[in-house]
Amino acid sequence: MNIELLDKPLLAIDAELTIAFLTKDSLESHEASALLKRAGFKADQDQICTLHEQRLIVCGIEKMGTDHLRSAAASVARTIANFAYKSAKVQQYFLKNSASIVEGFILGSYAYQQYKSKPKSATLETLYLASDCFNDEVIAFSELEESVNSAIIVANATNYTRDLVNTTPQDMNPQDMCDVAQKLSDENGLSCHVLDENALEAEKMNAILSVGRASIHKPRLIHVSYKPENPKATISLVGKGLTYDSGGLSLKPATSMVTMKMDKAGACAVLGMLKAVSELGLPVEVHGFIGAAENMVDGSAYKPDDVLKARNGTTIEVRNTDAEGRLVLADVLSYAQDTVKSDFIFDYATLTGACLVALGPYTTGMMGHNNHLKHKFQKATGNSGELTGSLPFNDHLKKLIKSEIADVCNIGSKPYGGAITAALFLDHFINDDMKSKWLHFDIAGPAYTESICDVNPHGGTGAGVRTSVSFIKSLV
Ligand code: BES
Ligand code: ZN
Ligand code: ZN
Repeated sequence: MNIELLDKPLLAIDAELTIAFLTKDSLESHEASALLKRAGFKADQDQICTLHEQRLIVCGIEKMGTDHLRSAAASVARTIANFAYKSAKVQQYFLKNSASIVEGFILGSYAYQQYKSKPKSATLETLYLASDCFNDEVIAFSELEESVNSAIIVANATNYTRDLVNTTPQDMNPQDMCDVAQKLSDENGLSCHVLDENALEAEKMNAILSVGRASIHKPRLIHVSYKPENPKATISLVGKGLTYDSGGLSLKPATSMVTMKMDKAGACAVLGMLKAVSELGLPVEVHGFIGAAENMVDGSAYKPDDVLKARNGTTIEVRNTDAEGRLVLADVLSYAQDTVKSDFIFDYATLTGACLVALGPYTTGMMGHNNHLKHKFQKATGNSGELTGSLPFNDHLKKLIKSEIADVCNIGSKPYGGAITAALFLDHFINDDMKSKWLHFDIAGPAYTESICDVNPHGGTGAGVRTSVSFIKSLV
């Protein structure tokens, strides 16, 4: 589908269908008001009414805000997909909202059909955005174009991440993830370096190696970098890439194992961020580090009671093999810090069920030592359409991961504050000079959904991509 922003009023654009977003107030003055009301349209948020004879589709919005429009645009996109219209035009009210309408449309149009024997092809070919203005805002058309183009890139990168997350474990093992990273690097002018199991051995990365040992697909560490000329900052992005998490010997119950293909969502988000940042041509050096492994069971599996020595020399008492993500990240975080000197290091991981309990399934848990950086992140990403909540560290919780026989234990001794104790475990692998530059994002809740919500379809959501690209943009 093409999206075209035209420097023309709505009436001058020829399209098969008109899309309008209406609040309860604007419904009153709309030319089709009587017809819409007769059909029971109340302009509730995301409520759709299609008047085919008028070639009009309207969607209700609570108010003219970016979040409401983004969600409404996604609803419209999902509805239009059921019809045969080839072109549609959007009536714009406030031009400053153009980007969120575009995002909603692209994200809402997404459908993962890789495993369908008869995939449905989309009929809509072009979506036009008109430039009528309903208030006295003055936005140069070139500026508008830039924000729309940027929204297209970021939304497509989010869909790319969704595709990767949705790929099943038989089609996405750690080596497949390397191939994906290499392909992205070839297409987008990035460099890609892979550490196989022998290289991981040479780097003394016993934590990631132990997690992946019982799988026939051995672990990999993938380093993808985007290096523009004269960068304004350097950022390292680390992703948990468990291509499958069975729990290992601390085996997950059958129902919890379903959806664990999504345990690679952090890694997939990092690849999506690199795709977006390179296509936007942002003057920020970005390094992606992915720990790819499969947590499985066989006679060689690592065990509760094992003590592992991680790359940075820290010894870890394993008390639960299902708390494997933090072990993978331990080695990858250590490698990332020693390989690239960066201004920020962020990690993304579907790390704990506890984060879902703490914040609910829609919100990413953000943790770190630097409150100023957390605020900076919240401020830069507030309009991205993703939710982030901060979970605070404290010294009491720190004590819960003390080990009697090793330096640290991979689970807390009490079941409370599990998202925070997981982050405090990661803190053992953050060098002193990077403590204030590190943020950990637990995306266990928002990375995957089994019910359509907002701009998200069933499956991978691409969580992390939009917020992080907004943050990286804010560094420029
Ligand atoms: N990948 C899971 C976390 C997860 C749970 C992600 C639900 C998405 C949805 C992680 O590896 C895990 O199993 N964590 C354990 C930790 C526990 C053993 C301390 C958990 O959350 O139960
Ligand atoms: Zn696990
Ligand atoms: Zn996991």
